[in-house]
Amino acid sequence: MSELVGRQAQLATLNQLLEPIRSRVGNDRPGYCLLMRGRRRVGKSRLVETFAERSGVPTLYFTASRQQRGELDLFAEAVIESNLPSSDLFGGTQMGNWDAALRLLNTVLPDDVPSIIIFDEFPYFVEQDRSIEATFQKQWDRLLRPQRSSTLSYYGGPSSHL
Ligand SMILES: Nc1ncnc2c1ncn2[C@@H]1O[C@H](COP(=O)(O)OP(=O)(O)O)[C@@H](O)[C@H]1O
Ligand SMILES: [Mg+2]
Repeated sequence: MSELVGRQAQLATLNQLLEPIRSRVGNDRPGYCLLMRGRRRVGKSRLVETFAERSGVPTLYFTASRQQRGELDLFAEAVIESNLPSSDLFGGTQMGNWDAALRLLNTVLPDDVPSIIIFDEFPYFVEQDRSIEATFQKQWDRLLRPQRSSTLSYYGGPSSHL
């Protein structure tokens, strides 16, 4: 891949969010849910990918496929392939819906180091299932945010859908 051009200010902003999370791990203060939007091809995915890579933090990067079927299976595969420490727990588990998938995700996030969870092209998830936004919000508020002080999440996608 070509070298990243510019984006120093944006990387610095993201690092400023991550740094306090690094020092909070182990106590009960919550992480951040960050929504990023912008025109297509402006460099959103490249930015978060570079940020996550350089951070050295265990990361799950999942991009909505826009397929009607199989999104949850693809999600399980992405978790298993990720460098989240207990991601193998996802192996052989059948998840019927996103509620179950996010609850299971909560169990594989590390307690002792920060983690980064990226849902790219989030509007495509919503296209497939209008209730998905409410499901994500509920699981973020109830489980991921309060229990996983280390989690930093991004939902990327074109602004026209957000
Ligand atoms: N800062 C950058 N430096 C170099 N190449 C970039 C940069 N930002 C984006 N690109 C390249 O431009 C293309 C579009 O970027 P991408 O991150 O996919 O956009 P978006 O996610 O906003 O649609 C990709 O090939 C990506 O590698
Ligand atoms: Mg993108």
